[in-house]
Amino acid sequence: MSLSIKDILQQKPIGTTQEVKGWVRTFRSNRFIALSDGSTIKTLQLVVDFENLEEGLLKKIATGAAIRAKGDLLSSQGKGQDVEIHVTDLEVLGESNPEEYPLQPKKHSMEFLRDIAHLRMRTNTFGAVMRIRHHLAYAVHDYFHKKQFFYLHTPIITGSDAEGAGEMFNVSILDKKNPPLTEEGNIDYSKDFFAKETNLTVSGQLEAELGAMALSKVYTFGPTFRAENSNTSRHLAEFWMIEPEVAFNDLNANMDLAEDFLKHVIRYTLENCGDDLEFLESRLKEEEKSKPEKDRSEPLREKLQFVVDNNFRRVSYTEAIDILRNSKPNKKKRFNYLIDEWGADLQSEHEKYLVQHFNAPVILFDYPAKIKAFYMRLNEDEKTVRAMDILFPGIGEIVGGSQREERYDVLRGKMNDFGIDEKELDWYLDTRKFGSCVHSGFGLGFERLVLFVTGMTNIRDVIPFPRTPGNAEF
Ligand code: 4AD
Ligand code: MG
Repeated sequence: MSLSIKDILQQKPIGTTQEVKGWVRTFRSNRFIALSDGSTIKTLQLVVDFENLEEGLLKKIATGAAIRAKGDLLSSQGKGQDVEIHVTDLEVLGESNPEEYPLQPKKHSMEFLRDIAHLRMRTNTFGAVMRIRHHLAYAVHDYFHKKQFFYLHTPIITGSDAEGAGEMFNVSILDKKNPPLTEEGNIDYSKDFFAKETNLTVSGQLEAELGAMALSKVYTFGPTFRAENSNTSRHLAEFWMIEPEVAFNDLNANMDLAEDFLKHVIRYTLENCGDDLEFLESRLKEEEKSKPEKDRSEPLREKLQFVVDNNFRRVSYTEAIDILRNSKPNKKKRFNYLIDEWGADLQSEHEKYLVQHFNAPVILFDYPAKIKAFYMRLNEDEKTVRAMDILFPGIGEIVGGSQREERYDVLRGKMNDFGIDEKELDWYLDTRKFGSCVHSGFGLGFERLVLFVTGMTNIRDVIPFPRTPGNAEF
């Protein structure tokens, strides 16, 4: 098997004959091709003497064309690269008409690239983001596998609607009140597949809890759907969530796990995605040139290293509310949403303020029971629950989790208060009936993690095919 461009640039097997395939990035002086195969952000320089090759070949070389090239790998005399291939055999596999090809070797706006999302992975920026995304996903599995967690596949189509996390995408075929019947009077499953209301999952948590009650430590990592009609730079209708769930962990152990896990995956990218991070860092620097110095963000890799090296700040909701109430923006009515009462839900502007105030990632815990989901463990004060949200600089909420209510009667009472039908969740209640125990878990929004690590600013730019209101191309 031939070497990838990444291998060639790393191993530099000078003097050997190499064959490469990839796409032309730039072509200059009718002689130098910068070739990309996506294995790395770097391109490989090909030096081509077209006079010694088949006639007409030169005209077919343009940005975006797919080619195969063969020749000797030599040290490069030119600036910008250590090695280059002196091509003796060249084939154009797929031409790319420069009059029509929308990607030219210049800077394109993110909006323009979103419009041509089917081609944007060919740019340096999106190539870097996708490679980092891959490494992060790998690091997630690596972390949990080494800690003896089991990867649990929870359903995508679900009959449970109890998370209360957001609007759901309905996948029932027909109205459950009038199920279609066969001539014999049975439900006709060919017309109404599940014969009950079903939705795309908003979270695998409740099913992950079933796994944790048998396997002790499990995690999910799968697509998650929320039909929230919110056009923000932090929300997608289809995103990927990682949800560990651990039997016998209380809220403190849950915070320890989340912090250690986040540090691990970020450290992993620092160690394995150096070239791509360096590129994204310089891209950000370039973008922020026009800003006054005080408004510029710190270099990307320093920001990541800081998170890896420093403790997250753990702050109770009550403390946070005090800080917010007495903050300048609140007093001077600069927040859009003023905090004047204990019990208020925090908006992203408050989360942003808290992260700046502590100058570190913040774990907020012990939220008012009323603003959190029914399954969270009620504290002894009977007002707060053992919830935790992790807030990251520039992102806001990246993780939401909790210790779960393990007491059968209390959980039933809560379901009642929240208007949840016990019959719908009898399987969930069974975990509290048979061998119930303290347990905890959390959900990490994968795209928010990718946003943080890559320094991108819009969540649509860290997933290959974003699903947002009005956007379901492909
Ligand atoms: O806070 P959420 O809604 O928590 C849950 O779903 C729990 N069941 C998790 C658990 O305890 N196992 O969502 C968890 C995380 C959020 O912190 C956020 O990072 C991400 O999922 N998230 C979204 N990411 C992108 N687009 C959306 N619409 C998102 N909604 C939530
Ligand atoms: Mg949340």
